[in-house]
This record gives sequence, C-alpha cells and structure tokens, in this order.
Amino acid sequence: MKPGTRTPIVGGNWKMNLLFDEAQRLSSELRGRLGSHRGAQVVIFPPYPYLAPVAAKMRDSAVAVGAQDVHTHVKGAYTSGVSAKMVRSIGCTHALIGHSERRAHFRDGDPVVADKLKAALDADLVPVLCVGESLAERQSGQTFDVLERQLRSALSAHDASVLSRLVLAYEPVWAIGTGQTATPQQAQDVHAWVRGKVAGHFGAAFGASLRIQYGGSVTADNAATLMSQDDVDGALVGGASLDCGGFARIVMASSAR
Ligand code: PGA
Repeated sequence: MKPGTRTPIVGGNWKMNLLFDEAQRLSSELRGRLGSHRGAQVVIFPPYPYLAPVAAKMRDSAVAVGAQDVHTHVKGAYTSGVSAKMVRSIGCTHALIGHSERRAHFRDGDPVVADKLKAALDADLVPVLCVGESLAERQSGQTFDVLERQLRSALSAHDASVLSRLVLAYEPVWAIGTGQTATPQQAQDVHAWVRGKVAGHFGAAFGASLRIQYGGSVTADNAATLMSQDDVDGALVGGASLDCGGFARIVMASSAR
C-alpha cells in the first residue's frame, strides 16, 4: 500500500491542562473548525472530567474523543481508576496507551501497558499505543532495542485481526514538550523500521495499512515537512493542540500529505 492510501490521523493530547470553561471553549472552536473535516481523522484527548461533555459536544461531528489512559481492569475496587469500558460508555472511541508521561510519572511498565492495551481492545476502543526512546537511550544507540521491547511486550499476545484498529505513535521522549522536534529524516527512519518490524510479525498487509503517528513538539510550522515523509501518517500533538488555529493548521498539513 502506498502512502496516501492510509488516512492520516491527528491527535490532540490536552494532558493536564485547561479549566472546564476553557475546555468547553476550545471544543466549541474545534467543532466549528474541524467538525466536518474529511482529509484526516481528528481525535482529541481531554482530561477525564471533561470527556463526557466534550464527547457530547462532538457527537455527529468528524472530531473523535478519546481518553489519555485507561485502567487495566474493567471494574471493581480500584479507587480513582477509570476503565476502558467506562470511557466507551460515554461516547469515547479512542485511548492513548503507554504515553511516555504515564510510563515515567506513573511508573506504567511494559506489562501494565500491555494490560491497558488489551483492556482498550476489549472495550472496542481504538488504542493509540505510544512508544519512544529517551535521550540517553538514543545517545547510547539503543533506540531500536527499546522500541522492539515496547512493541513486543504490548503486541505479541494478539493476532493481526484483533489489532486491526491499532494506531501507533512514535514519540521520542527527548522531543516531547522540549521544542526539540525529531528531524523529518529521524522520524522517517524510525517509522519505516517500525513498519518493517510489525510487517515481519503480523504480515505485509498489516504493516502497510498500520498508521504510525509522530509525536514530540509538532507545531503548525513543522508539521508539513514531518508529514511529507512516506511513513509518517499523522501527528500526536501536545502543547500545540491547545490552540484551535494552530491545531487546525496541523490537521490541514496532515490532510495534504
Ligand atoms: P508535545 O507533546 O507536542 O507538547 O511535545 C506530545 C505528546 O506528548 O503527545
């Protein structure tokens, strides 16, 4: 499958930002700007308390809504936990799994990430599995070892049919929130390698259709050159997703690839 036949997907990860009225305003702006956009799939990831109202606001629009994380379990005595089925039940369709901030600040290790991926799949969510190396790992030449470990741990228990909804996000930790974006070539090299690995395990057709987002200091100014790379199928955007105009420009750049 040639690039261009994979529909790009652009995610806006709001992280732990915005108060409710700000979130309401941003989602209204996004609905107005992108609510009937077709060139790329758009999904936003608001904080938990805003998921239900934002999902309601986006109903019958082209903007999907997802959770930034899900619990490993479906229900039970897990105070503060939010399950994949819960977020599905309020109209969310996607979930970030294994974001590096979860891995670093909440100590989500590979086995927990694997369980969360399974929980998301079981709940019929589209999982956006985030992988990426730290600066020290890149500098010591371990990038591909780290990615292989993260991918194998999360994916190897499943077969291709179960993973047909999967989206991957390559997010080098050193590029997240730092302004130090990976170069288009660095992103392309990793994306092509990831696609090859996944194709080797799950088959060529699966590899060719898998969408791999790039994340890490994507802005309206650098999106177009990143998206021009053959294996970059969209962006996962943090800081720049909090501004409707900038985020919309990233979506347009991704749609034009
Ligand atoms: P950033 O975050 O765009 O602010 O670097 C990306 C992410 O964490 O998904």
